[in-house]
Amino acid sequence: MQKTQACQEPLLLLPMELVLPPFLSPLTKCHQLRSQLPSRPRHGRHQEPIMAVAQAPPFTLSLQETRSAHVPHRARPFQEPRTYQPSYSARREPRFVLETKLISFHNSAGRLDDARKVFDGMSHRDLLAWSAMISAYATRGMFDEVLALAMSMVREGVLPDRFLITRIFQACAYAEDLELGSALHSMAIRVGFMGRVKDVPVGNSVLVMYVKCGELGRARGVFEKMRRRDLGTWNSMIFGCCRSCKWEEARRILKDMRQEGTEPGVVTWNTLISSYARSGDLDVALELLEQMEESGVEPDVVTWTSLVSGFVHSDRGDEALQCFIQMRLAGVEPNGMTIACAISACASLKLLSQGSELHCHAIKIGSVNNVLSGNSLVDMYAKCGELVAACRIFNEIPEKDIFSWNSMVAGYAQAGYCGKAYGLFCKMEDYGIRRNVITWNTMISGYIRNGDDERAFELFQTMEGYGIKRDTASWNILIAGSVHNGYFDRALRIFRQMQSAQMKPDYITILSIIPAFANLVAAWKVREIHACIFHHNIEMDGKIANALINAYAKSGDLAGACAVFDRHSSRNIISWNCIIAAHLLHGSPNKVLDYFFKMKQHFVLPDHTTLTAVIKAYGMVGMVSEGREVFLSMDKLYNVTQDLDHFAAIVELLGRSGRLQEAYETIERMPLTPNLTVWEALLTSAIMHGNVRLAQLAATEMSVIEPNDPRIQMVVSNLQDLAGKSFDAPKVTVHNKGRMLDGVEDCSIEIKNMVYFFSTGDNVASELIVTELGLSMPDTGNGTLEVEEEMEEAVGFHCEKLAIALAISDSPHFRSIRIIKTARMCNHCHTFAKLVSEKYGRQILIKDPRCLHKFENGNCSCEDYW
Ligand SMILES: *[C@@H]1O[C@H](CO)[C@@H](O)[C@H](O)[C@H]1NC(C)=O
Ligand SMILES: *[C@@H]1O[C@H](CO)[C@@H](O)[C@H](O)[C@H]1NC(C)=O
Ligand SMILES: *[C@@H]1O[C@H](CO)[C@@H](O)[C@H](O)[C@H]1NC(C)=O
Ligand SMILES: [Zn+2]
Repeated sequence: MQKTQACQEPLLLLPMELVLPPFLSPLTKCHQLRSQLPSRPRHGRHQEPIMAVAQAPPFTLSLQETRSAHVPHRARPFQEPRTYQPSYSARREPRFVLETKLISFHNSAGRLDDARKVFDGMSHRDLLAWSAMISAYATRGMFDEVLALAMSMVREGVLPDRFLITRIFQACAYAEDLELGSALHSMAIRVGFMGRVKDVPVGNSVLVMYVKCGELGRARGVFEKMRRRDLGTWNSMIFGCCRSCKWEEARRILKDMRQEGTEPGVVTWNTLISSYARSGDLDVALELLEQMEESGVEPDVVTWTSLVSGFVHSDRGDEALQCFIQMRLAGVEPNGMTIACAISACASLKLLSQGSELHCHAIKIGSVNNVLSGNSLVDMYAKCGELVAACRIFNEIPEKDIFSWNSMVAGYAQAGYCGKAYGLFCKMEDYGIRRNVITWNTMISGYIRNGDDERAFELFQTMEGYGIKRDTASWNILIAGSVHNGYFDRALRIFRQMQSAQMKPDYITILSIIPAFANLVAAWKVREIHACIFHHNIEMDGKIANALINAYAKSGDLAGACAVFDRHSSRNIISWNCIIAAHLLHGSPNKVLDYFFKMKQHFVLPDHTTLTAVIKAYGMVGMVSEGREVFLSMDKLYNVTQDLDHFAAIVELLGRSGRLQEAYETIERMPLTPNLTVWEALLTSAIMHGNVRLAQLAATEMSVIEPNDPRIQMVVSNLQDLAGKSFDAPKVTVHNKGRMLDGVEDCSIEIKNMVYFFSTGDNVASELIVTELGLSMPDTGNGTLEVEEEMEEAVGFHCEKLAIALAISDSPHFRSIRIIKTARMCNHCHTFAKLVSEKYGRQILIKDPRCLHKFENGNCSCEDYW
């Protein structure tokens, strides 16, 4: 053995524990690694074996700039001291030299096992023998073997030269073997492989080894000590920073490298652009693209593909396609990956024609039969509803993977063919594809979207039995589906179950569940969700904050809405609109106007929603000319074109102040066809001001637009009766003819965390209750028309009266009474609620389809106009 040689340089020995490293399963790892390896030319495959070792690329991670002048592998002379000259007389070759040649010969003929047999049988193995054997494994990506051999080599006292050590570092990088890597690093320093010009490749490989092992700090140390750096050095360091998400540092290094005179190459730019694109920071990626083009480096297919793919993954499909077009204009041919991404963009935008065009393109460049393009095509056709085409492509994909199956199941499920989707769902395991959680979620979501909640819940219950662990998305689907189908309480129940199952709600959970609580009977639940956001540290971004403001406002808690708004740091136009809508809903027009001025001070430009609210607010405070001014100048001042909502608001403003004729003329002259909202504004004001003629006119127009709405029909026929009698009857009562509205009207109330439902007509002893309350109803007749659909004399009490009565007798005094009604409040109940609020000192909130009535001390926030 060669112990003597080892003893000459005892410090170079590796620590003993390194001899038995904890190798991971080589199979999976190598497979993975090889697929990551860029295909590159195998230098020297048929050349003299030893030259092959010498000429092998010293380091070719994807970071190597191929067109760089810094890696002249071919021209590199073999100049190590222990050089073997192949031209040397063969007669004198010792046995081990011949054996080394044999190793290389077997290796280049693809007989790795034979090469290894020769190697194992050698009695004397010098550096060249080790190099030949190690390189044979390295070029095949068998890095675990490389590492094992490297360790035996060092144990036998043979020290690697610059080239071999570079290869071993490469293997350490791929296998992420930090222990061996850093031990070899100290050895390299001792033997002086670091520092000189020719050592740059060694330094680079050490750098990459640390980067790949996630040791950015040590990589930085190596980088800073390197006196000479080439493009590969800079690239590796930039890659390292990007990999550790140190974006600022990466860009600083880019700047440094240019200052030190190394111009970034296409790989440098691609590293930066693709990492920014992958992290979703596409605006910076685009900025870098611009810089890249300015510096004279042409973006290549990798650059463009990473941008297209980044946009697709950030759900910015239109920009992905723009990018794709830009690439074509720049004359860069897309590869299969680019086309697959572009097709996915078409899928998300449901652009069938562009998608089919790309399909043709994929056929032309022959990348259609691979599973990647196939999957994106299936997805595209399925999302565009072309299930036949999707199915054909699906059938043609030779080796369907889980993504192919999932896309097809999703295609059927989303198009409403749950049966077909379920058929595939059941069949896929027979084809050897194990269903994953996405498959299950897709199927559950398909059922729930199509209203088959029962099947959805059944699958949700059984999935864990099949060994598929539910993820947050599984829960989110049930919650969002329940909210969508109107089962708010069930949504909350699932939400609580989710937390007791130790599943953390995420951003999507919160966003899905908030709208369920945007109603009066859910005030305490909104607070629960709010607390949950804090508890789980969920990012309170604009979307969630705005949803919360909205939910607080609609649940009757204006103070809660204001608190969220005040603490919300990144307010945008939507946040302002939310808080403005909240105050409008709660009948605080002056606050609406305050916020309107405040937002302008914050340089937020009002949009059409803001302006609608502002005109309404001016109407509520009776500032007609100011409101009209906003209406007339919105185009000029805010670049907002008047739409139907603004016309409805101005009609309401004019109508409230009694300018009915002007309101009517505004409708007559408007350039758009008025819709229901506009006519309803006129109808309301005509009724409030007792103008039967205009009321009848508005109601007739409404019945033309919505001929099948029984409510409108009822109002029209009632008004016709009225018009026959008198035009300015101060108070007329119309009885319900034919009881068309049975069961349409109901209301709900929450008392002690229970929600009760009432229907009009449930007059169980209600008269008694109301009488017990000792309220006598005064005659309310100050020039208003009473056009109710149903009068109490006919069918008993309106449900809100029952609800109020129940709440008064059964809920704690300090709580406000909250009721949601499906039909508009009638004057009687409105007055009744005002009286109760005064006599019992209770706040009563009643939401009807028109307005939120907040009764306090005998007054209502709607100021009797609704
Ligand atoms: C006004 O809005 C239109 C479309 O909404 C937009 O194209 C235009 O650039 C805007 N003009 C100004 C001056 O902002
Ligand atoms: C009337 O049109 C406006 C503006 O497009 C819209 O917001 C509103 O919902 C429409 N009303 C109805 C009842 O469809
Ligand atoms: C009706 O109007 C009179 C005077 O116009 C007023 O005193 C009375 O309070 C009003 N009644 C109601 C119920 O508003
Ligand atoms: Zn009211």
